[in-house]
Amino acid sequence: MKHSTIQSTSLVALLSSLTGLATAQDYTSSEPFTLQLSSSYSDVDGSFLGACHAGAAIEELCVTGTDGTPAEYNTFALNTSSADASDSDLIYDTGILVWTLPASNINVSEGLIFPANLATNVVAPLFEPGSNGADVVGFDDDNLLFIYSNYVDDKNFTAGVYPAPVEPYPLYQWYACYTYYGAYYYQTLAWVTGGEPNNPTCEAVNVTRIFI
Ligand SMILES: *[C@@H]1O[C@H](CO)[C@@H](O)[C@H](O)[C@H]1NC(C)=O
Ligand SMILES: *[C@@H]1O[C@H](CO)[C@@H](O)[C@H](O)[C@H]1NC(C)=O
Ligand SMILES: *[C@@H]1O[C@H](CO)[C@@H](O)[C@H](O)[C@H]1NC(C)=O
Ligand SMILES: *[C@@H]1O[C@H](CO)[C@@H](O)[C@H](O)[C@H]1NC(C)=O
Repeated sequence: MKHSTIQSTSLVALLSSLTGLATAQDYTSSEPFTLQLSSSYSDVDGSFLGACHAGAAIEELCVTGTDGTPAEYNTFALNTSSADASDSDLIYDTGILVWTLPASNINVSEGLIFPANLATNVVAPLFEPGSNGADVVGFDDDNLLFIYSNYVDDKNFTAGVYPAPVEPYPLYQWYACYTYYGAYYYQTLAWVTGGEPNNPTCEAVNVTRIFI
């Protein structure tokens, strides 16, 4: 597992300025937790997720094996903001999943982004510095990671009939897949936007939060 400390001073300067930009939104950080997979696929069942290097200050969420001893690379938090919490319709707290990248002279808080790829329905989320573009996720009563559905549900559209709003409900479209990002090829957490995964290595999983 690579989660190397960044040495380059110019990169640290860049990170500092990026982190400065991200202070626009006020977040409350949850207590730290690890993330464990459950699955009917025995090769990933019980494995923990860990941040793994996928570029300069970019990490994916790699499948790391069943040793969940809390460490810097496998400890995360949920950053909630008053903006997200003000939606009182929603049952569960939502926010951005964050991981702290230890660099040489600075700890960089990074938010999880789901970069849509128009060529596949398999999206491997990435941590990047700050909260710009970070996507909102939640945890349900069973501590399962989810993403809320939209206020209108296109699964239910009828041609020409303006859709009625629906109460967002949790979606659990998580998979462990071998994913390719910027020349890195790892078994990572992925989100499948709908239907069967494009990628045949994908194995359906759920992700449970365990406070440390
Ligand atoms: C980064 O965080 C770790 C763990 O909380 C802490 O021990 C360390 O002093 C921090 N480093 C800096 C540069 O703030
Ligand atoms: C998460 O919240 C903490 C506490 O407010 C903040 O220091 C950190 O920058 C936030 N992380 C991101 C990625 O916004
Ligand atoms: C979809 O439409 C059906 C029939 O109108 C309704 O029973 C169901 O609740 C709708 N589902 C969602 C998610 O809106
Ligand atoms: C994940 O959890 C949800 C909610 O309990 C459940 O509906 C779904 O079947 C689970 N998926 C897997 C792969 O276990």
